[in-house]
Amino acid sequence: MNILENIYSRRNIKKFKPDMVEPEQINKWLEAGTMAPNHKMTQPWEVYMIGSETRTKLNHKTNFCQAPVVLAILSKHGSTEIETYENVLATACFVQNVNLAAWAEGVGTFWSSMGNAAKNREIMGIPDGYDVIGVFGFGYPEEISQPKERTSIQEKMKYLP
Ligand SMILES: Cc1cc2nc3c(=O)[nH]c(=O)nc-3n(C[C@H](O)[C@H](O)[C@H](O)COP(=O)(O)O)c2cc1C
Repeated sequence: MNILENIYSRRNIKKFKPDMVEPEQINKWLEAGTMAPNHKMTQPWEVYMIGSETRTKLNHKTNFCQAPVVLAILSKHGSTEIETYENVLATACFVQNVNLAAWAEGVGTFWSSMGNAAKNREIMGIPDGYDVIGVFGFGYPEEISQPKERTSIQEKMKYLP
């Protein structure tokens, strides 16, 4: 799969097979995540692997679509507002690196934004000074949805003189 095939075929997965994803694979994709661009090398990302006890407490409405692996990705605040903002951007790049690296090996991800809610932060023990970018299910897809239609970028471009 070349990079464009990888990008165009990736989906947010809503139904996973029970087949396990090995910790070594996850680790490899997370290491690939660290190659994300990040201003001043703040490397703001942190990863919490979610065990079954915490997963049960989080009580996600779909149980993370039955994904065999669940993890949360956090972004550390910077020393200024702009640095915190840039750290979130860098961590979003980290997330996409990880997602695409996994997808290149047939493993899909489900992205849930539930992690930043106060109750869920407490369950996961997230300290102040971190944004939870998402809680992610990883696994082999049982179903892969059709692509959702996108507006052409031509409609979102401005040519400045
Ligand atoms: C910041 C962010 C938060 C998201 N939160 C959720 C979520 O809570 N639940 C969900 O089903 N999908 C969530 N998604 C995934 C989007 O719904 C999904 O990417 C979008 O529908 C496009 O589908 P595709 O990724 O399959 O192309 C989130 C995506 C982003 C970038």
